[in-house]
Amino acid sequence: MRTLKNILVTGGAGFIGVNFIHTLLEKSLEFTGRIINLDALTYAGNAASLADIEKQFGGNPTDKTGLSKARYFFEHGDICDRAFVESVFAKYDIDTVVHFAAESHVDRSILGPEAFIKTNVMGTFTLLDVARNYWKNTDGTIRQDALFHHISTDEVYGSLGDTGYFTEGTPYDPRSPYSAGKASSDHLVMAYHHTYGLPATLSNCSNNYGPYQFPEKLIPLMILNMLEGKPLPVYGDGKNIRDWVYVEDHNRAVWAIMQHGVTGEKYNIGGENEWENIKLLDTLINIVSKKAGLDPAKVRGTIAYVKDRPGHDRRYAIDCSKIKRELGWKREVSFEEGLTRTVDWYLSNTEWINSIRSGEYQKWVERNYGKR
Ligand code: NAD
Ligand code: DAU
Repeated sequence: MRTLKNILVTGGAGFIGVNFIHTLLEKSLEFTGRIINLDALTYAGNAASLADIEKQFGGNPTDKTGLSKARYFFEHGDICDRAFVESVFAKYDIDTVVHFAAESHVDRSILGPEAFIKTNVMGTFTLLDVARNYWKNTDGTIRQDALFHHISTDEVYGSLGDTGYFTEGTPYDPRSPYSAGKASSDHLVMAYHHTYGLPATLSNCSNNYGPYQFPEKLIPLMILNMLEGKPLPVYGDGKNIRDWVYVEDHNRAVWAIMQHGVTGEKYNIGGENEWENIKLLDTLINIVSKKAGLDPAKVRGTIAYVKDRPGHDRRYAIDCSKIKRELGWKREVSFEEGLTRTVDWYLSNTEWINSIRSGEYQKWVERNYGKR
């Protein structure tokens, strides 16, 4: 088992990163080290999602007394900014990177691909290159007790027909600017492993859902639209299929790879839980209606079939037998349980929702950190 001391979490203020930090610090996953969260706080990142962590574990790295006890630090900045990333590595003596930071929404990548190429490709390159230099031994080799874990997606594999699954050996076939950038970053990670000996692991996960997800993605968008009586926009015929995994299950898999994964290997993570979008929506309508006292028939009446997403991948389905077999991971949260927890969270966190949707939060970031 690896002993991980100073973990740089990139994108730790986004949906999966926030949940990762909560899980690691609050659920005693045999972790006693420090977390350094490096995030640019784009529209998708929210430092307030970690206010409780900051309070319980936070500290000022320049304060010598605080340093010994504090286990959580926040660094605001861009992964493309090499000098900044280098300074963070040196300041905290980083030995582990778990790289979540990315532009992550497919529809936005269709509207404006540039930010996706910058962050997902150039940002990953910058991190890899800084790690390679920082972890260099005096003889030019790279220390092997460090680790770079890259978080990727099943979208790099392209689109499935009615049958079959993505395995770790499925050839890459990305079809959106988002997945093309992620595929490129995956290739860079493996190239750094093979060429320079960088100790790296990689995971490709299916669709996550759970608390703190920005309400532009299917599940939180639909929950909030139902509560507000707005139309429920279904792309195309609604029969595209996704494989859903609860965010905590994903993060436990990431942690298992970070502790026990073999460098140079990639691992698929999925929920073994395929749903047509329209059937998922039907289930969600039942849960939300019951909890919020709505009439499900009326809510169903607000479903609106809209123009399809260009290049919309038809079906994703992950074969995650490798991580189950080799690392003993398995999904723990059933879809019903996960959806119920998610709906409860969105029902009781209206302040979080209002602040990110009103733009108030971005104004707060600008006031506190300056315009980027
Ligand atoms: P998200 O969009 O919710 O969060 C991304 C975070 O990265 C935000 O906090 C944002 O501020 C930060 N960020 C963006 N650009 C940055 C930059 N240049 N420098 C520093 N920080 C920056 O994304 P998410 O859903 O939490 O996804 C996290 C990772 O997991 C991504 O790499 C994504 O590709 C991957 N992934 C997501 C899913 C999913 O269903 N959400 C599934 C599989 C893989
Ligand atoms: O598969 C992993 C990927 O899952 C991650 O890599 C991405 O970061 C993440 O955003 C997600 O991508 P998707 O495109 O699958 O997720 P999204 O929530 O945008 O859409 C899920 C499905 O629902 C997809 O088939 C499109 C459809 N959809 C989505 C929205 C937002 C609708 O029908 N209506 C909508 O309004």
